[in-house]
Amino acid sequence: MCGIVGFTGTRQAAPILLEGLSKLEYRGYDSAGIAVRDGDGRTEVVKAKGRLKALEEKTDCGLAMKGCCGIGHTRWATHGEPSEANAHPHISDDMDVVAVHNGIIENFREIKEKLSKKGYTFYSQTDTEAVVKLIDYYYKKYNSGPVDAISKAMVRVRGSYALAVMFKDHPGEIYAARKDSPMIIGVENGEAYLASDVPAILKHTRNVYYIGNLELAKLSPEGVEFYNIDGDIIEKEPTEIKWDAESAEKGGYAHFMIKEIHEQPKAVSDTLASAVKDGRIDLSAVGLSDEDIEGIGQIIIVACGSSYHVGISAQYVIEDLARIPVRVELASEFRYRDPILKKDDMVIFISQSGETADTLEALRDVKRRGIRTLAIVNVVGSSIAREADNVFYTLAGPEIAVATTKAYSTQLIVCYLLAVQFAKVRGEIDEERYVSLISELMSLPAKMQRLLDDKERIQWFASKFSNSKDIFFIGRGIDYAICMEGSLKLKEISYIHSEAYAAGELKHGTISLIEDGTLVVGVLTQNDLFEKIISNMVEVKSRGAYLMGLTTYGHYNIEDTVDFTVYTPQTDEHFTPSLAIIPLQLMAYYVSLAKGLDADKPRNLAKSVTVE
Ligand code: AGP
Repeated sequence: MCGIVGFTGTRQAAPILLEGLSKLEYRGYDSAGIAVRDGDGRTEVVKAKGRLKALEEKTDCGLAMKGCCGIGHTRWATHGEPSEANAHPHISDDMDVVAVHNGIIENFREIKEKLSKKGYTFYSQTDTEAVVKLIDYYYKKYNSGPVDAISKAMVRVRGSYALAVMFKDHPGEIYAARKDSPMIIGVENGEAYLASDVPAILKHTRNVYYIGNLELAKLSPEGVEFYNIDGDIIEKEPTEIKWDAESAEKGGYAHFMIKEIHEQPKAVSDTLASAVKDGRIDLSAVGLSDEDIEGIGQIIIVACGSSYHVGISAQYVIEDLARIPVRVELASEFRYRDPILKKDDMVIFISQSGETADTLEALRDVKRRGIRTLAIVNVVGSSIAREADNVFYTLAGPEIAVATTKAYSTQLIVCYLLAVQFAKVRGEIDEERYVSLISELMSLPAKMQRLLDDKERIQWFASKFSNSKDIFFIGRGIDYAICMEGSLKLKEISYIHSEAYAAGELKHGTISLIEDGTLVVGVLTQNDLFEKIISNMVEVKSRGAYLMGLTTYGHYNIEDTVDFTVYTPQTDEHFTPSLAIIPLQLMAYYVSLAKGLDADKPRNLAKSVTVE
């Protein structure tokens, strides 16, 4: 969702802000703006609808704006259409207060009404303008300084926010506040940075502070000070970010997505290495003891989007290997009912960003009920990682493309590791099976690499179907979970309508959609279900479908039925999603490329959905 950057130091702020915003483009946006303040408190605000390029042109790449302190924003519209008037920064009428905001202010209408009666005028349809003017109102009414004015506004507003605010009387200073929307602060050599996410400041510093919920910060060239909502100073220690700066760059690839697809063997290998020591799985860093594992009554997995699809695969694997009942829930549904949870349940939250609003709120709800929570998260120090009882970090590195690939693959690996270890500790598998499953896991990165080395065939096939109207994915069991992710990947970046169906469900309605030439992708990696899916594929073929079959080496009789076959290397059947997803990711990417679309920035989508 929206991206925020801030800088204060001795260099010109505007070029640094524009560069920072470019690193947050992946979050999704439809307009952008920056505000720069010079040493005398004079402020200049420039905004533009559309891509960052428009803002760069208006500001001569930032060179036209003078001042060493500034804030910037990429806006993903929630209240009010994408337009220059609605773009951030927003200002108070006299330009005393300037701010950018990420999140949603739920009671902005009521605040607007109150302030309108006090003589304030509103020029945009945004919720943000209401907060800016509320801060200005308290600032002038109580005359007790920025921290007091922002704190009073924080008490008054309902909703979520990451705010960066500059005050005319405080040149060189940026004030930040947050509740339920991500924001980090970096400090290095007399300069301070603010951003919604690490890639925006990675080039400048690795020393990052996380602002907690309902906390504030003051940034200046002298450093950073943190406050609680009562205005008391609080101490914080920086965290060192280990991601290397190159991993947040395209490194010669046309898009981050294809680069990240290629990074999967390494990401999976790193994640495996973090938990497999001397051939055995060690969950001590996660904080799960054998007693904890033995005591689990039921597992509930809660997530959104692709992370939810990982949960569906994990359900099959954990239930089959560890014989623990597993339920998988969409966070946005789970949080709005009153789920039945027992004291010995474990709720696993899966999230790349660690900031997805629905997943975070679901986590808080479960914690309030006193049920044990485990988070599988990629972004170190993110809200979900900090608030869960236990965290298992995926080591995917920064994922920039909106469509997840390497984070999805590492999440799967974490789920496999949990399943195998739970199975062993609970006596469901013997030593021989345990050792063989771990060795199979360790062989996955090399097998993933083999699939990547053979990508040209998929590219050719994808270009043939780039004009499709509809594409269907069918499978059963774990293969159905693979289909769900393959279908989401395709639709989110190619804009082709696509659906995943449990193959047995086709005859209950969907088969009526099959027309001459409709592409149907059948996924067949499970021996027991192979014949069943083949039958379903024959059914759609006889209604005119063009068939692609995705199966494991050895199943050569598929070629009599399908028009195009892709084989994945053999592996234990529980782990097939890790291999089968790669051709589907490549297919989605190459369809998008053939259509001339920007796979990294699909329309209407944001990388991290920090509002519900
Ligand atoms: C997948 O390609 C999407 N970008 C999306 O479905 C994503 O997986 C979902 O928004 C969940 O995000 P999270 O893992 O950061 O919580």
